[in-house]
Amino acid sequence: MSGAPSVSQIPPGVVTLEDHAVHAQTRLDANAWAYFSGGAGDELSVRANRSAWDAQLLQPRVLQPVAGGHTRIELLGRTLAHPILLAPVAYQRMAHPDGELASAYAAAALGAGMVLSTQSSIAMETIATTVLSESGRGPLWFQLYLQHDKGFNRELVQRAERAGFEALVLTVDAPTQGARDRERRAGFRLPAGISAVNLAGLPAANDPALQAGQSALFDGLLSHAPTWDDVAWLQAQTRLPILLKGIMHPDDARQAVATGVAGIVVSNHGGRTLDTVPATATVLPRIVQAVDGRLPVLVDGGIRRGTDVLKAMALGASAVMVGRPYVYGLANAGAVGVAHVLRLLRDELEIAMALCGCANLAQASPALLFDPG
Ligand code: FNR
Ligand code: LAC
Repeated sequence: MSGAPSVSQIPPGVVTLEDHAVHAQTRLDANAWAYFSGGAGDELSVRANRSAWDAQLLQPRVLQPVAGGHTRIELLGRTLAHPILLAPVAYQRMAHPDGELASAYAAAALGAGMVLSTQSSIAMETIATTVLSESGRGPLWFQLYLQHDKGFNRELVQRAERAGFEALVLTVDAPTQGARDRERRAGFRLPAGISAVNLAGLPAANDPALQAGQSALFDGLLSHAPTWDDVAWLQAQTRLPILLKGIMHPDDARQAVATGVAGIVVSNHGGRTLDTVPATATVLPRIVQAVDGRLPVLVDGGIRRGTDVLKAMALGASAVMVGRPYVYGLANAGAVGVAHVLRLLRDELEIAMALCGCANLAQASPALLFDPG
């Protein structure tokens, strides 16, 4: 596409993120639906992410002074209007012809941060040129999947820097794809004309042929899998802050702190990589404890309500990201749909804060959560 994204209407009756999901299933073909909605294996972690937020109950306080309250936060040296960012999601032109550009416009209009996937279906330079000059926009970060070719990785990082991305989000939980059974059942394949355009020109891996008895995974793909050494390598390549996305263990969080990265994202990739891992809401408190305020800790996975956002902040998150919901908004109404999803979440967050007696997110603490003990 070129120019501003097309304008669409929110379908009648769509007033929640779940409504967007239900409607999106009627708009997307089975191929795209399997890709966007699916998870790994039996999708236990997909469901766990949701139910863990549901299992946390809010504990409101009454008659608190909430006049003049707000949802602002500080994140990596910037003041943001609210703590909701768009998580990196690949191949968004499969949801809508405007793809990532529509999401970026919507994020900018709503003051939301956006993390653009390495595997975006629109070039990173196009996204950056289009939204960086928007006033009131949130931060624009680039999600990095390290490739097998160091020179290509260096170039990707330099491109992101030159384009004006403000941080790199290195995803560390997906050295290989999970067992995507739903995608396999649907016979998923990328439609013609949609590809990971940022990776165009990536030289083929020049690996020796596998010997009998070798594993295509361990001796093939994973012979290039990133390790902590590559995090250090990346730090030496760039002046941009680096966040590690996909941290689920307190020791990994401590190692991230020791490595000197700028932040972490508690994430299980929306349940798309390893199935049967705990929900992010379940592990978040122990990671917050391990980090002990030394780094911002973001979280994603299953956040569908403003109450979920407030619960995450109460558990010590610095900000949250949403993945599938905005892609459903995109499928339903392009940029307008993504903006609607962000607006709904933010409005619900304000309502939840007001009704909990919480005037700002600096006041969000575990005291906001019901203690059944
Ligand atoms: C993702 N996610 C992801 N993460 C990443 O680091 N790079 C990527 O390219 C993608 N691509 C991607 C595609 C699709 C279709 C989905 C649903 C997710 C993971 C994403 O950033 C985020 O961690 C989860 O989506 C958060 O969970 P919810 O909000 O979808 O439940
Ligand atoms: C996914 C990859 C692109 O989750 O991260 O589909």
